Amino acid sequence: MERILVTGACGQVGSELVPALRARYGADTVIATGHKTEPSQELLDGGEFCFIDCTDIDRVADVVRKYNVGAIYNLTTILSAKAEANPQLAWTVNVNSLRNILEVAREYECAVFTPSTIGAFGLDTPLDNTPQITIQRPGTMYGITKVAGELLCDYYYQKYGVDTRGVRWPGLISYVTPPGGGTTDYAVEIFYEAVRHGKYEHCFIKAGTYLDMMYMPDALKSAFQIMEAEPGRLKHRNAYNVTAMSFAPEDIAGEIKKHIPGFTIDYRVDPIRQAIAESWPNKMDDSAARADWGWQPQYDLPAMTFDMLNKLSARLKQ
Ligand code: SER
Repeated sequence: MERILVTGACGQVGSELVPALRARYGADTVIATGHKTEPSQELLDGGEFCFIDCTDIDRVADVVRKYNVGAIYNLTTILSAKAEANPQLAWTVNVNSLRNILEVAREYECAVFTPSTIGAFGLDTPLDNTPQITIQRPGTMYGITKVAGELLCDYYYQKYGVDTRGVRWPGLISYVTPPGGGTTDYAVEIFYEAVRHGKYEHCFIKAGTYLDMMYMPDALKSAFQIMEAEPGRLKHRNAYNVTAMSFAPEDIAGEIKKHIPGFTIDYRVDPIRQAIAESWPNKMDDSAARADWGWQPQYDLPAMTFDMLNKLSARLKQ
């Protein structure tokens, strides 16, 4: 039986993707791996878990060989703000890990899913209806590593036939594991503050700053869908634009206020993250993903806000 390997399994996406993959393909099929973070009890109880440093190619190869891995979901990444604080580490983790995974995938004939991001664009890119194919000249180390990653995925597909697939995720909103060190994290933080304190006092992104966003169930769906798509339908092997909604801080605050009437938002803008946000798309055009493999998000801002507030309130009461 060919197995699925997930790297970065303890992170924001991994902690939800692993149980979803186990539910979809069987608990024994999925090997969750992390680097430093202690895995949650749910990850440990749900199936196999092991530690891997993806910058160590021999360790990646050992695990792929040992478990007969046929597909790798590479979620290892350092997010934008954290990458600006340590660009050297961001390059090592984001690019060298992917290069190692692609090398191992080439040898052991694995498919590879790698998320790219809205951060793979920059100020030279059209920020409204950002096309699938356009100028990619990001001004952040995070973006540079993600563009390099997209190019590597193209290269390994074209030169070696590695089955590389990817999406450019927007900011991801979820209630299970908070993200760490991203620019879009304000849109997660706002829910925690709303549920805990009924107000969000330190929004670090300015009012009027629009960014693409997506609720986690849609992000998981995009990963499954592209990995299950007929290979012949995929015209792009670097990454597809996918989005679900676009909003500014005051829009999400207004939506939360419909459920928590006294809710207020105040701003303490972080210039570093604000500059990053301003260099990213307001709204991507994801028509290529819709046409090529049937991408269609389920959650818009009202549906996400309703679900997020319910689920997060229940979780924080536990
Ligand atoms: N959520 C990411 C970040 O803010 C963008 O991909 O860094």
